[in-house]
Amino acid sequence: MGSTQALMPVYSHLPFFPVRGEGLWLEDVTGRRVLDLWGGHAVSILGHGHPRLLEALSQQAGELLFQSNALPMAVREEAAAALVAFAPPGLDQVFFVNSGAEANENALRLALRSTGRERVVALSGGFHGRTAAAGAASAGSARWYGFPRAPFETAFVTPGDASALERAVTGEVAAVILEPVQGMGGAVGLGRDYLATARELTSDRGALLIFDEVQCGMGRTGHPFAAQHFGVTPDLLTVAKGLAGGFPAGAVLARPQVAVVARPGDLGSTFGGGPAACAMVLAVLRAIAEEGLLERVRRLAPELHRRCLVGPVREVQGVGYLVGMRTTRPAAQIVLELLERGVLAGTSADPHVMRLLPPLTLEEEHVELLAAALEELAP
Ligand SMILES: Cc1ncc(COP(=O)(O)O)c(C=O)c1O
Repeated sequence: MGSTQALMPVYSHLPFFPVRGEGLWLEDVTGRRVLDLWGGHAVSILGHGHPRLLEALSQQAGELLFQSNALPMAVREEAAAALVAFAPPGLDQVFFVNSGAEANENALRLALRSTGRERVVALSGGFHGRTAAAGAASAGSARWYGFPRAPFETAFVTPGDASALERAVTGEVAAVILEPVQGMGGAVGLGRDYLATARELTSDRGALLIFDEVQCGMGRTGHPFAAQHFGVTPDLLTVAKGLAGGFPAGAVLARPQVAVVARPGDLGSTFGGGPAACAMVLAVLRAIAEEGLLERVRRLAPELHRRCLVGPVREVQGVGYLVGMRTTRPAAQIVLELLERGVLAGTSADPHVMRLLPPLTLEEEHVELLAAALEELAP
């Protein structure tokens, strides 16, 4: 066992110490196996040790592990083109970064610059990351923000309340930023009608709509992005987590009319768009297409939602493989009880909602193992 003494104690760890993973299984030094339905917080979109990822990484590392954006590279162009093809039509321009917060930071920067406005509307329960702008637009960030002031003013509105949104989107608002399915908020789908209202209001009032799909994107809804699931296309869309299946990568996708404000030197990142990350992005997108993973999510998600409704689970919410289970007892307690029975799940900002973020490679047998473990728990 290692020691965590050198690490800043900013995370509370669960009592399991993984050393390897294969498919949906994690294993510790003693050989104890745990079914990973947390998926590294939505990152392990293809599960662990997927042969395509291992091959893409070792091949790219052998050819050229890293080179900066000062030089053009085919793998970067291919990854951008593949991501545009995966995204809703119209989001034709890509800027690669390394994380979700960085993607949102840049999306907000583009929105403010493109509109020349200074205010942002975000949602209660929304989470967009820990950097200055992304944190300012994250609900409840006052607890951890840490900076003396935010770079812009954010008005927070209740998700689903269309008239509150209508009042908030004034002529000074640069952007509405939201997660179409809130992750940290407890797997809360915002619904097609609300998203369509957000689309209409922002278009009418000269503001931009940003979808943060860092958690709900990359096939998790059974469609490439929640934008396609709900049939609403934003002006900017951010993605990270599962984008490169475990290698740090994020991206901002933008309509060309928005992206046009970014001139050479306006945006930048040393590691963003690095060849290894881009090779992994291509491997993930190819696996999703060639292994029929979206169809698989659409087929198995209803079963997952149905079979979870046992033991201490009172209600199931969310979309596809972003699942929230409303529990009779505190979710943190149920997570520990499940881990004792060999299943890894996670919590959310709602103390009574447990979250599942399984890889898209989930199978029926995994759903049965989860249901059996939940059944053993006290209601
Ligand atoms: C919806 C959403 N946006 C942004 C982020 C921040 O991503 P990162 O931790 O990669 O900066 C997260 C992380 O959990 C997230 O769930």
